[in-house]
Amino acid sequence: MDGMSTVAPPQTLPQANDACWCGSGRKYKRCHRPLEGRVVQGEISPYRPVPAHIERPPYADTGKAVRWNEPLVKSPEIIERMRHASTMALEVLTLAGTMVAPGVTTDEIDVYVHDLCIERNCYPSPLNYGGYRKSVCTSVNEVICHGIPDSRPLQDGDIVNLDVTTYIGGVHGDTNATFFVGDVDPASRRLVEVTDECMWKGIEAVRPDRPISDIGKAIEDHAKKHHLGVVKAFVGHGIGEQFHHPNLQILHYYDSRGNTVIMRPGMTFTIEPMITLGTWQHKMWDDDWTAVTADGKRTAQFEHTILVTDDGYDVLTGGEGAVSPFAPWKR
Ligand code: MF3
Ligand code: CO
Ligand code: CO
Repeated sequence: MDGMSTVAPPQTLPQANDACWCGSGRKYKRCHRPLEGRVVQGEISPYRPVPAHIERPPYADTGKAVRWNEPLVKSPEIIERMRHASTMALEVLTLAGTMVAPGVTTDEIDVYVHDLCIERNCYPSPLNYGGYRKSVCTSVNEVICHGIPDSRPLQDGDIVNLDVTTYIGGVHGDTNATFFVGDVDPASRRLVEVTDECMWKGIEAVRPDRPISDIGKAIEDHAKKHHLGVVKAFVGHGIGEQFHHPNLQILHYYDSRGNTVIMRPGMTFTIEPMITLGTWQHKMWDDDWTAVTADGKRTAQFEHTILVTDDGYDVLTGGEGAVSPFAPWKR
C-alpha cells in the first residue's frame, strides 16, 4: 500500500482483482480497498479551557490521575452527590444527541457538550484525563470508544456514540449512547438496538450478594444469541470521587477468574458494553486513544452509572430523558 499517495480515489472504483487506482501496481483488494468506507481522522482543534469558578478534578491541571483506594460502598451523602452529577451527565448527553445530523462535525458536538457542562457548573470529566484533550468522546462506526472529536462531518448512514462524563460536588457521573446519523442500514440499526438490550440485561443482573460476574454473563449470553461480538479490552468501572476506580472493573463477558467481587448495597459502577458486528478484537490508532475494531466492522455502545440497592439496582444516569430505546420505562 502506498501510504504516500495523494491521488484521490476515482468516481468508479476498480473490481477487487483489478489494479488499484493509486498506481501501486497491486490488486485493489490488497491495496486501497480495505481503507475505503473507514473513518478517517480530521483536524483536532485547540484545547478549550474551563472557567476558574468551576470545581476541577485533581487531574485537570496535570493530566495525571491521582489514584487512591476509595471505598467501594459509598456513604448516603456521596450517593446523593453522585445522583446529581449523574443527572447532569444525562441532561448533557440527551441535549448533545439532538445535535447529531449529517454534516455536523464531532468538534461542533464537543463545543456544545463543553458549554452545556459549564452552564451546569460541571467540569467535563474527559478534559485532560490522562492527557485526553476534549470534553466528550465521539466514536463513529468502527470506532469502539475514546474517539477524539475532530473536523470530520458526520455522514448520512453513520452511527456515533457520545460518551459524556460530568464532575460536580467532587464526584463523577458517566453515561453514553449510540445515535443514528440520518438513514442507517438495517444491520447497523439492529447492532445498536441489541447493544442497548445487552446493557439492560447487564443492569438487570445487578443485585446485592451476587458476584459481579453475573453482569458480564448476562451481556455475553445476549450478544451471542444475536451472533455479535463483545469487546474485552475495555470494561466498566467503579466510579465516585474517581472517574475510574483503580480496583473495580466490570467485565462485559464471563470470566470465572475475574470479577469475584460480591455486589453490596451502596456500590456504584458503570455498565458499558461495546458490541461488534464482527470480531471482538481491537486495534489502536496512532493517537493512542482511538480504539477501532480489528476488522473495520461497526460497533456500538451504551453506558449507565449504576447504584446497587438493598433489593436490586438504581440507574443514577437513568430517567425519562435517557437515550435508550429499550429502557424499562419505554418498554
Ligand atoms: N467515559 C469513558 C468511560 O466510559 C472514559 C473516557 S476517558 C477519556 O469510561 F479520557 F477518554 F475521556
Ligand atoms: Co463513559
Ligand atoms: Co465509563
